[in-house]
Amino acid sequence: MKTLGVIAQKGGTGKTTLSVHLAVQAMLDGLRVLLLDIDPQASATAWWKRRRDAQPELIQARGDALARILEQARARAYDLVIVDTAPHSSAESSTCARLSDHVIIPTRPAILDLDAIGATAVIVNEISASCAIVLNACPPPKLFGEPHIVTEAREALKQYGLPVSAAAVSQRAAFSHALIDGRAVAEFDAAGKASREITRLWETIKQDMGL
Ligand SMILES: Nc1ncnc2c1ncn2[C@@H]1O[C@H](COP(=O)(O)OP(=O)(O)O)[C@@H](O)[C@H]1O
Ligand SMILES: [Mg+2]
Repeated sequence: MKTLGVIAQKGGTGKTTLSVHLAVQAMLDGLRVLLLDIDPQASATAWWKRRRDAQPELIQARGDALARILEQARARAYDLVIVDTAPHSSAESSTCARLSDHVIIPTRPAILDLDAIGATAVIVNEISASCAIVLNACPPPKLFGEPHIVTEAREALKQYGLPVSAAAVSQRAAFSHALIDGRAVAEFDAAGKASREITRLWETIKQDMGL
């Protein structure tokens, strides 16, 4: 069993959006997936309750129960556990990072979001798990290459010395529309651009995690 932690000290960067999409993507890829929601706001849990399919499985838990629940998940032979976390709790983000095999840090490419990465970078620098910053809600790519703001964000993020995923995720209505009735973009518009971006992100994470 491998554990993917999704952390960011800032709210609204896309932790839940990416957690649920990656959980569905991994499930479609044939893995037995558990989504673990330790954010008291419980947005992933609300999404899951709207969902018709019981897969991927989801457990809502307190952050201080994380170690115990991961132990139980190991006994139940999941292939992958994805942990969606709350912002503003450095203790829980830190515990999650410590218990994860790989950590992703979603951020928007805007300057205030990039500045906020500092607090999260401190957390992942203390652990041995691999990690990657994921640029989310970016302007969609143009015909030739990435939009300027995404290139600039990559440049600005160099100061933290953390890897930045080559797979950026764009701001697309499908990412919020799909969630309304408990789906993910792969189930909402499988051939769409949003779905292709998640597939690409999932492929890079799979590689990073040796899955
Ligand atoms: N790539 C995206 N495209 C469109 N909307 C997005 C995208 N990522 C996040 N959002 C929207 O931004 C808001 C915050 O995202 P969310 O995943 O809840 O962030 P977090 O869990 O980090 O607080 C939500 O309304 C979500 O639908
Ligand atoms: Mg969230």
